[in-house]
Amino acid sequence: MNKDIESILFTEAEIKARVKEIGQQITRDFTGKKPVLIGVLKGAFVFLSDLARCIDLDCSIDFLTASSYGKGAETSGKVTIAKDPGDSLEGKSVIIVEDILDSGVTMSFLKKYLSERNPESISVCTLLDKPERRKTDVKADYFGFLCPNEFLVGYGLDYAEKYRNLPYIGILKPEIYK
Ligand code: IMP
Ligand code: MG
Repeated sequence: MNKDIESILFTEAEIKARVKEIGQQITRDFTGKKPVLIGVLKGAFVFLSDLARCIDLDCSIDFLTASSYGKGAETSGKVTIAKDPGDSLEGKSVIIVEDILDSGVTMSFLKKYLSERNPESISVCTLLDKPERRKTDVKADYFGFLCPNEFLVGYGLDYAEKYRNLPYIGILKPEIYK
């Protein structure tokens, strides 16, 4: 285990099994459709790559970059878009794929932002959900795990760009970010 991690919350095997279940659920729910999976960079890159391989449908993949986090562990409340999905979303079933829903500020902004591109539907799929922290009324249509109010890293999630490559999700020792 990485020395900056207090404890492992979800192991590699637990994540793998849960991602497979979410992929199967999406496959059932979108039968006959060709969803567009839009990963929110950078955090969702690991989850999206595993999830996409568990979805047995013709789907396309795109990314956007949204950021509301500086180097701290709290949201700044202001969301900026640095990279847009390139292709038309008109009439498409869009699934936004996110690493974690925290305050919900980012996801509320993204749903509104993408709805202006006239998709048929927009669904939200997040690996982790911290419902206690929610400041907007956004909900996940698909989520992997509910989590405690701790700062988590690994499997795509970072602190100051570190730890994204850990294969598990762990609680970061508070002395690292305090
Ligand atoms: P929200 O706008 O507060 O919901 O924040 C969502 C974004 O904050 C996520 O996409 C993550 O990038 C980041 N974030 C929230 N909580 C954590 C965490 O515990 N660890 C790492 N990143 C987090
Ligand atoms: Mg993120």
